Amino acid sequence: MTSAVSKATRKQGKGIWERAFPHAAAWLPALWLLWAWYAGALGVNPIQAATRFSGRTALTLLLLSLACTPFHILSGWNKVLSWRRPLGLYAFAWAVGHLLFFAGVDYGFDWGSLRLDVGTKPYVWVGSVTISILAALALTSSRWWMARLGKRWKRLHRLVYLAGILALVHYFWVVKGNFLGLSGSIGLPLAYSAVLSVLLFLRLPPVRRAVRKRRGRKPLGRSLRAS
Ligand code: HEM
Repeated sequence: MTSAVSKATRKQGKGIWERAFPHAAAWLPALWLLWAWYAGALGVNPIQAATRFSGRTALTLLLLSLACTPFHILSGWNKVLSWRRPLGLYAFAWAVGHLLFFAGVDYGFDWGSLRLDVGTKPYVWVGSVTISILAALALTSSRWWMARLGKRWKRLHRLVYLAGILALVHYFWVVKGNFLGLSGSIGLPLAYSAVLSVLLFLRLPPVRRAVRKRRGRKPLGRSLRAS
């Protein structure tokens, strides 16, 4: 009896850690940023550092959300599929925070200067399209919208890949490196691009089929087919 109870408690404890992952992935960087801001650990230009950090965190969470399905294909671990929605929503929340650092903290919501400057910064337009896609996906991420949109929901939510690609275009544009000459600060954006390329490759139907065959498993469940 005691061992059955402790086994159940252990199982429940494991479940808590599994559920906590997406929340920890989003809140730990927030706590770090808060600490660094107040401790003056963000360098000589804290606003720029915070804008950059929030942009990178939004992109990281977006890629983590995109990694869930390929991870499930490779490992067969079902629980990871439930991380997609919270990670995607947190990616959107961080993108909103990123925009607020840019428009609110940096420009003090001075719409006149913003309008003038944004015209000369095409990467802001790419960022705006990306955040609009994330907003549409966040808004329609509930079961209610899934039922309401039917087959169109799946098509709409495929835009998440476009959001990932556009976020990377935005990143390359911002860092102003020489992409073809492989010079400048393009190391990190290149690493993010490599990760996204692998994730997209693993989503290709022939690759999915080959992985499934190698694992010698039955076809994947309903939850994955809905993704
Ligand atoms: C209206 C939307 C957006 C605006 C106005 C915007 C603005 C900016 C600005 C001004 C910077 C450069 C900061 C600097 O170096 O001085 C930046 C960098 C960046 N943004 Fe955005 N952004 C937007 C949307 C997004 C979205 C949706 C993502 C990702 C999902 C994103 C990811 C990044 C990344 C990764 C960087 C580079 C960080 C680094 O240099 O390490 N941005 N953004």
